[in-house]
Amino acid sequence: MAVRLGDEAPNFTAESTEGTINLYDYLGDGWGVLFSHPKDFTPVCTTELGRVAALKPEFDKRNVKVIGLSVDPLDSHKNWAGDIAETQGQELNFPLIADSDRKVADLYDMIHPNANDTLTVRSVFIIGPDKKVKLIITYPASTGRNFDEVLRVIDSLQLTAKHSVATPVDWKQGDDVIIVPAVSDEDAKKKFPKGWKALKPYLRITPQPDK
Ligand code: BEZ
Repeated sequence: MAVRLGDEAPNFTAESTEGTINLYDYLGDGWGVLFSHPKDFTPVCTTELGRVAALKPEFDKRNVKVIGLSVDPLDSHKNWAGDIAETQGQELNFPLIADSDRKVADLYDMIHPNANDTLTVRSVFIIGPDKKVKLIITYPASTGRNFDEVLRVIDSLQLTAKHSVATPVDWKQGDDVIIVPAVSDEDAKKKFPKGWKALKPYLRITPQPDK
């Protein structure tokens, strides 16, 4: 069955470029991004993995561990890492799971047979410290993902986990946020001392609380 938002992220133990990984042990109390790519030694995937490696400090800052995956074997991942370093100027600095038996791909429904019946699509799962799935995105093989967007979503998720707010369209760090409708005006006065602007009773805009 497909994994959906709010589900417990299926745990697994798998071989990776950084040794055997148990997902839950590896994530500990932090956040995780598990993402699949279709195939080693392919152009779009090479650029994606280089970009994720370059963004590692940004993921670290947010207490997020990143894990890549494809159904290619470990020796392929290790050989490809050289090409990533050479062409993208970035050493692979996070684990890449070698899911040759498709165990993890099947658990997370990363193979979409009507797109390709053997390769994983470009899936992204963001997993919270409670091991629940917080975000799922799926891209086709021909479109490289935007990992700045993944970071933006993590910022939103981490903010909304702490405060009773939601983030509006195109929100980014430092922008105003929305007070969720479940919070009454009376409670909002206590929670949001900077005040808010009510464009409608259900649309209350307040400065980002932790800024
Ligand atoms: C790529 O990464 O460029 C790619 C991988 C699989 C199919 C098509 C493109």
